[in-house]
Amino acid sequence: MNPLAKELNEVLSTTIVEDLLSDYGKRMYFPKGIISQSAEAKQRARKYNATIGIATDKGSAMCIPSVFAGFTGGLSHDDVFPYAPTAGELPLRKVWLDEMRKKNPELQGKTISLPVVTSGLTHAISIAASLFLDKGESIIVPDMYWGNYNLTFVEQREANMVFFPLFANGGLNVEGLAKTIDSIPGDQAALILNFPNNPTGYTPTWTEARALVAMLVDKAEKGKKLLVFTDDAYFGLFFEQDVCTQSLFALLCDAHRNIFVVKGDAATKEEMVWGFRIGFITYGAKGLTEAHYEALVKKTMGAIRGGISSCSKPAQSILLKGMKSGTYHAEKEAGIVLIAKRYHHLKQILKAYGSNPNLQVLPFNSGYFMSFACAGNAETLRLYLLDKYEVGTISIQSKYLRLAFSSIDIEQLEDLIAIVYKAAEEVFQASAGQKA
Ligand SMILES: Cc1ncc(COP(=O)(O)O)c(C=O)c1O
Repeated sequence: MNPLAKELNEVLSTTIVEDLLSDYGKRMYFPKGIISQSAEAKQRARKYNATIGIATDKGSAMCIPSVFAGFTGGLSHDDVFPYAPTAGELPLRKVWLDEMRKKNPELQGKTISLPVVTSGLTHAISIAASLFLDKGESIIVPDMYWGNYNLTFVEQREANMVFFPLFANGGLNVEGLAKTIDSIPGDQAALILNFPNNPTGYTPTWTEARALVAMLVDKAEKGKKLLVFTDDAYFGLFFEQDVCTQSLFALLCDAHRNIFVVKGDAATKEEMVWGFRIGFITYGAKGLTEAHYEALVKKTMGAIRGGISSCSKPAQSILLKGMKSGTYHAEKEAGIVLIAKRYHHLKQILKAYGSNPNLQVLPFNSGYFMSFACAGNAETLRLYLLDKYEVGTISIQSKYLRLAFSSIDIEQLEDLIAIVYKAAEEVFQASAGQKA
C-alpha cells in the first residue's frame, strides 16, 4: 500500500470510517506529484512558474477566440441546461471524427468507431482501463510517464505497471519495448503510449514510428494479442520536420487482427479548453465491423452511465459552436505557432549550454514540456529553485526536472534556463563537495 494511503488510514483509524472503507478506499490517497508541486509553485514561484500544464500568454490562459465567444452569447437554453446524451452530443462526436480523419490521413479507408465523449482524457483512460484491465494484469508503460497512471492503473484497477526505458541512444527504444512485451507471460499484452510525451516532450520520428508499428505487427503475427492505448493528450503540437505528426492509433488501427487500439484524446489541450473536461475514446482494430464498434460504444456508455452519468452539456455546446466557426482553424493554428516559437527559441538557448555535468537535456521535439536528467536529487533542486529563485518546476522520480515551456513567455525563457543551470550547479556541486 502506498505510504500516503497508510498515513490517511492512520488518521482515520479508530473511527467508523476505518471499519467501513472498501479495499479501494483503503488504497486511495492524493499523490504528492505534479498537482501538489504545482500548488506549492502557485504560492511561491513569484518569478517563473514552469509547472503549469496549460498554455499561457502573459500569465493568462490562452484560448481559441471562437470557443470563448460561446460565453458571450449565441447559446439557447437548450444548448446549456439539459443533460447531454450519455455518449456525448452526436454533432460533436461527428465533428471530432471528421477532424481526426483530417489530422490523420493514415486513417483513410480504415473503419473505426465513432468517438464517445468522456469527461476529459483522464476519464477516457480510466474507462478504457476499467473495460480492459483486470486485477493482477500487467500494463506496459514507458519509464517516463504521466504520474496519474499510478492511480488509474495501479490503485483503481489493481494492475501492475511494467516499465521499459523510453529512450535508447537518444531516440525511441523500440527494442526495449519489444523485450518488455516478450517478458509478459501468456498470449496477451497491454501497453500505453503517450506522444507527445509527458514529461519529456518527445514524439517518435516517422522512421521510429514505422519501426514501432513493424515491431508490434511482428509480435501480433507471432500470436500475441496486443491492447494498445494511445494517450494523445498533446496531439498537434509537433515542432520538427521529421516527427510523426499522426497518432499511432492511425498507424495501428488496421495493422493486424491481433492489435486492438484504444485512442484517448481530448479537447483539453488540443482546443485549449483545460477546464471544460471534454475527452474522447475511439476504438480501432483490423476486422472489426460497425456492429462490433456499436457494441463497444454501448459498453463504454455503460461505464459512463455508472460512473458520472453524462458529461457537461454547456461545455460540449460551446466547443461544438467554436469548432464550427469559420475562423476556428486559423485561430487554433495561431496558438500552436506561439508555442512552436517558444520551442525553437528554447532549443537555441539550450544549445549554448552544450553538454553539462549537472543537467542532461532529454530528447524533445513536441508538446508542452522538456525534461532534464539530473546529476543529483531532482527534488532537492526543485525545492532550491523555489526557495532561492522563486522558480517553479516539477521533479519526477527524484531524477528528472520538468519545465513547461507552454506556460513561459518567450522573452522569459533565457533567464529561466540560466537560473535552472545556475541552481543545478549550486546544488549538485555542493552535494558533490560534501561527499568528497
Ligand atoms: C499525458 C497526459 N494524459 C492525459 C492527461 C489528462 O488530460 P485531461 O485533463 O483531459 O483529463 C494529461 C494532463 O495533464 C496528460 O499530461
